[in-house]
Amino acid sequence: MRVRDASVDDVPSITAIYNELISSRTVTWTDHEDSVDDRARWLARRQAAGFPVLVAVDATAETAVLGFASYGEFRDNQRWPGYRFTVELSIHVDEAQWGGGVGRALMTELLARARRAGVHVVVAAVDGENTESIEFHERMGFATVGRLAETGFKFGRWLDLVFMQIVLDEQSR
Ligand SMILES: CC(C)(COP(=O)(O)OP(=O)(O)OC[C@H]1O[C@@H](n2cnc3c(N)ncnc32)[C@H](O)[C@@H]1OP(=O)(O)O)[C@@H](O)C(=O)NCCC(=O)NCCS
Repeated sequence: MRVRDASVDDVPSITAIYNELISSRTVTWTDHEDSVDDRARWLARRQAAGFPVLVAVDATAETAVLGFASYGEFRDNQRWPGYRFTVELSIHVDEAQWGGGVGRALMTELLARARRAGVHVVVAAVDGENTESIEFHERMGFATVGRLAETGFKFGRWLDLVFMQIVLDEQSR
């Protein structure tokens, strides 16, 4: 497996992996599946802003995307520049690959990129029912720092939002 920057050619796979769980799980709080065009615009916006969008690919079949990870602004940095050293991540691995180290490989590279970019804090906002993701983030060094009760609604029930974070450096600016 290899982790590299995403290209437009990866967008159909990224879209499929993102859409995979929308109808069955509360991982993302929407019933709306992204189109390939939506994801292409998202990739272009992220890359234009200088944020990483990474894919893990099968080393023998470079076009076979196993998962993707990215980060972007936590809040609106133009309006509230005090948030500019904080980012919020997203990570999704093809269900067929879970437990195989793809998430760890993506997260390791994403955090390395964040350190190099001078990011201080990375935030993960995780659905409270997604205990697998909470455990994954804990294994990757994140701490659970807050739980916003009943802030989401899907499949006829309230959902909690669990905030997790990792502090990447101790430097003052
Ligand atoms: C969460 C997710 C990214 C993990 O990716 P993955 O490729 O399965 O994770 P890995 O195999 O690399 O595992 C990395 C570590 O997390 C732990 N972990 C992964 N899945 C876990 C689970 N279901 N329960 C407990 N621990 C888990 C592993 O034990 C492993 O620890 P180790 O390397 O110290 O042994 C993946 O399950 C996923 O895409 N889930 C759906 C989307 C999602 O929830 N995204 C996050 C939204 S906030």
